[in-house]
Amino acid sequence: MSVVKLTDLSKSYTMASSEVTVLQNLNLDVQSGDRTAIIGPSGSGKTTLLLILTGLETATSGDISMAGKSLSGMSADDRADLRREHIGIVFQSFHLIPSLTARENVALPLEIAGLGNSRDRAMQMLDKVGLSSRYDHYPAQLSGGEQQRVAMARALVNEPSLIVADEPTGNLDEKTGELIMELLFDLNRDSGTTLVLVTHDNELAMRCDRTLKLHDGSLHDQSGGHKLAAVP
Ligand SMILES: Nc1ncnc2c1ncn2[C@@H]1O[C@H](COP(=O)(O)OP(=O)(O)OP(=O)(O)O)[C@@H](O)[C@H]1O
Ligand SMILES: [Mg+2]
Repeated sequence: MSVVKLTDLSKSYTMASSEVTVLQNLNLDVQSGDRTAIIGPSGSGKTTLLLILTGLETATSGDISMAGKSLSGMSADDRADLRREHIGIVFQSFHLIPSLTARENVALPLEIAGLGNSRDRAMQMLDKVGLSSRYDHYPAQLSGGEQQRVAMARALVNEPSLIVADEPTGNLDEKTGELIMELLFDLNRDSGTTLVLVTHDNELAMRCDRTLKLHDGSLHDQSGGHKLAAVP
């Protein structure tokens, strides 16, 4: 089953007088339970692609469908509902709410969804990302890697069927990065959670089913390359 499908997708940003084309005739089909790594140099459009994939940003042309439903004709509210229900997003900049503690930040999606037990579930999730002793810290009182882990806990607490993460291990030391990787791959294995990960981390990419490189506005499968390289 297709979780997200992008068809002939293009995205340009219009600046004062010039137009910057970031994505061009891009196609992507993410199947349920898939683990997809997206790589590409800085500025190649990876974050833009994730924003479009999650319905946070609109495309210039092309079609996006989520769980078989086209986003094109959908209102911003309906897109937000779909997102809240199915997708956990970890941004490159963490978007934590500065006036809320780590626990309150993580509990927020549960409260918005009207789910009970949000305080306990938030603490359990913070335990899983190794932040048991940071429940009551505000984002400004946390290190970059700790903020990233709070953002990860917030994305996972709702048990989304699709997790989209922009460099989830980017700010973490090796051991903490490993912890986060295990968490993501455990969810994939145990709950069939679909993963779309933007990463510069080769090890993370190699653990995925396929690696797609963003280049000249579209995606190119690199996994074949890995496999060929492994054959003597
Ligand atoms: N809102 C915007 N308006 C104009 N141009 C933008 C906007 N957002 C992104 N861009 C441009 O689009 C290009 C792709 O940006 P994007 O953030 O998607 O890159 P990226 O691959 O995620 O890079 P990085 O690895 O550095 O995070 C960049 O050249 C950027 O300047
Ligand atoms: Mg980016």
